[in-house]
Amino acid sequence: MIDLRSDTVTIPDEGMRQAMHDAEVGDDVFGEDPTVNELQKRVADILGKESSLFVPSGQMGNQLAIKVHTSPGDEVILAENCHIIHYESGASGAISGVQLSAVPVNNEGYPEARWIEARDRAGAYWEPLPSLVALENTINRASGRIFPQAEVQEIVGVAQAHGLKIHLDGARLWNASVGSGKSMSQLASGFDTVTVCLSKGLGAPVGSVLAGDAATISKAHRYRKMLGSGMRQVGFLAAAGLYAIDNNFRRLADDHANARYLAQRLASIDGIRLDVDAVQTNILVFELTSVKPEDLVEALKRESVLMIKFGPNLIRATTHLGVSRDDIAKAADAVEMILQSA
Ligand SMILES: Cc1ncc(COP(=O)(O)O)c(C=O)c1O
Repeated sequence: MIDLRSDTVTIPDEGMRQAMHDAEVGDDVFGEDPTVNELQKRVADILGKESSLFVPSGQMGNQLAIKVHTSPGDEVILAENCHIIHYESGASGAISGVQLSAVPVNNEGYPEARWIEARDRAGAYWEPLPSLVALENTINRASGRIFPQAEVQEIVGVAQAHGLKIHLDGARLWNASVGSGKSMSQLASGFDTVTVCLSKGLGAPVGSVLAGDAATISKAHRYRKMLGSGMRQVGFLAAAGLYAIDNNFRRLADDHANARYLAQRLASIDGIRLDVDAVQTNILVFELTSVKPEDLVEALKRESVLMIKFGPNLIRATTHLGVSRDDIAKAADAVEMILQSA
């Protein structure tokens, strides 16, 4: 199978398995797992933050951030297309009791600073209390687009001017860094907390990291335990994360080149609408004009190619270390053959 459904489908290679096998471990609930401690220090340093916490998933990183920055009844301002709204099982309401206030996005898929500023409230007691802004980079539902850094900094400025905390869902910040040439710490600058994932393009089997200042991360540590994620000899997984950072970060450029190649091939096929320039990292979303996405997904499966339906007329394909340029060419051939015979 050429599996382009997500960059989460990767399987650890021999080197990663060896690193996991060799990991020095201890009881992380006692803070005694040296490999977890090393990972947390490394990611905090990479992001230019004081401290960080290893968590089982990107969702848990995001939800802990919402929990530490808000009180029940508060309002969280975020883009209408973000992962926190669409794919986190309604967790923010259930766990933090907050109201999510969705801001529209422009044609490029990101919310503009003036729209976030317009969400400021008069402070009347009958209004919810805005306390947090959350952004996403890269933007999953906008073809993995990199949030332009000048706009990010403008929104950080708006949040700070209004006394709001600001969180970055950087599940694929690694891709944003490689794609933009900016360092991870530049992209994380000004954010109170940042989530990054190890289990997406970096290819680790499990894990994300939440970074911020020491007091905030200490609070998140308590909430992680409350939610039952006090983990024990979890250095076996942290070792995979360290290996992933050392070996699979810079190679994300290959995934981006593969995504761009696939976009160019698909854009020339009748029945597909796709903006090649929107494909900046490893995700591409394209529109079908003649067949239903579920029909294309089924037909592709018969050709050993997997993609996912991403909306009424939309399909998403994601490149990752488990697919080669040759695989991508075969996937493009399969789409072309199916649409030509439809
Ligand atoms: C932008 C974004 N944020 C957060 C997550 C959540 O990550 P996880 O699946 O590890 O909970 C994802 C998952 O794909 C994502 O795409």
